[in-house]
Amino acid sequence: MKLLLVVLATLLSGFIHGYDCKIVQFIFGDSLSDNGNNNRLTKSFAQAALPWYGIDFGSGIPNGRFTNGRTVADIIGDKTGVPRPPPFLDPSLSEDVILANGVNFASGGGGILNETGGLFIQRFSLYKQIELFNGVQRLIRGTIGDEKANKFFQEAKYVVALGSNDFINNYLMPVYADSWTYNDDTFISYLMETLRAQLMVLHGMGARQLMVFGLGPMGCIPLQRVLSTSGGCQEKTNTLALNFNKATAKLMDELSAKLPNASYQFGDAYDVVNNVITNPKKYGFDNADSPCCSFGRIRPALTCIPASRLCKDRSKYLFWDEYHPSDRANELIADELIRKLRFKPVNKTN
Ligand SMILES: *[C@@H]1O[C@H](CO)[C@@H](O)[C@H](O)[C@H]1NC(C)=O
Ligand SMILES: *[C@@H]1O[C@H](CO)[C@@H](O)[C@H](O)[C@H]1NC(C)=O
Repeated sequence: MKLLLVVLATLLSGFIHGYDCKIVQFIFGDSLSDNGNNNRLTKSFAQAALPWYGIDFGSGIPNGRFTNGRTVADIIGDKTGVPRPPPFLDPSLSEDVILANGVNFASGGGGILNETGGLFIQRFSLYKQIELFNGVQRLIRGTIGDEKANKFFQEAKYVVALGSNDFINNYLMPVYADSWTYNDDTFISYLMETLRAQLMVLHGMGARQLMVFGLGPMGCIPLQRVLSTSGGCQEKTNTLALNFNKATAKLMDELSAKLPNASYQFGDAYDVVNNVITNPKKYGFDNADSPCCSFGRIRPALTCIPASRLCKDRSKYLFWDEYHPSDRANELIADELIRKLRFKPVNKTN
């Protein structure tokens, strides 16, 4: 009897603490990756809490994703066999959930810089997200011990996908001090210095397999187009995105060479999205310049709201709202990133 209990206890503890072969992901990002954090930040003005967000996801009620369906991170995870991590603020988050699924810290309105998105009142900037990750690490270390935790955190995948708010909701908005403190070059250098420091902190916390996603042609989002009299793309904004991408790619090469065991990769889908914008029909889209969810002729309506009208076929629109790509666009972006970053399926053994 006693022996049986010992065997049972050993089996159980092996079960409970047996997650160390599972590869999970930790996501740091903005509204393009948020899957429910901001909806629990009660004072945030950047929320996807109202219809018609999430209309093509599960039961169709808003779930915190700033799109009609899946995010790019959802799709990449699904296609490569990594579980979809729950949002950090999900009340069901526990040690076991974290060990089996990772955590998503992404927050709409967040940026690389602390000061980005201040107008939204509440959002997690990248530094704040790293601070929250630190808390998660302490919790897991307390649960499975340092040795297993080191292995768990070193084997995990890390996604860092921020930057568009640092431009759209900071540098390009004259109400933010950064817009008059920096010029295009010095602002991108400032972003790179900050990102370098943040990625080094993450490396110190165990991040070895890390991907940074670049920016798309953000001068062509509907919100930027309404700023020009012709309705065309803001070329200045697109140039900033291209320069940011170039600088980030260089930073990833530098960090991979310098940090022990680090595979830090850069991937962007700028060209693919730009191709759709130039020639939507070729890629199966009907519209690549206006939001599927829009409030009639009042443009820009900053968010999709219950009174908004939806386009007839959501799979034919590149943009879901003024800022964010549709599910269909996210799939195109995810496929491009998978191709460029040569993702290999993981967790295939169980
Ligand atoms: C950014 O915010 C974090 C808290 O989230 C703080 O620890 C850090 O000192 C801030 N950095 C700067 C440069 O303000
Ligand atoms: C690098 O990887 C090797 C082999 O897996 C390991 O022994 C070593 O501790 C790692 N170093 C760091 C700093 O992660």
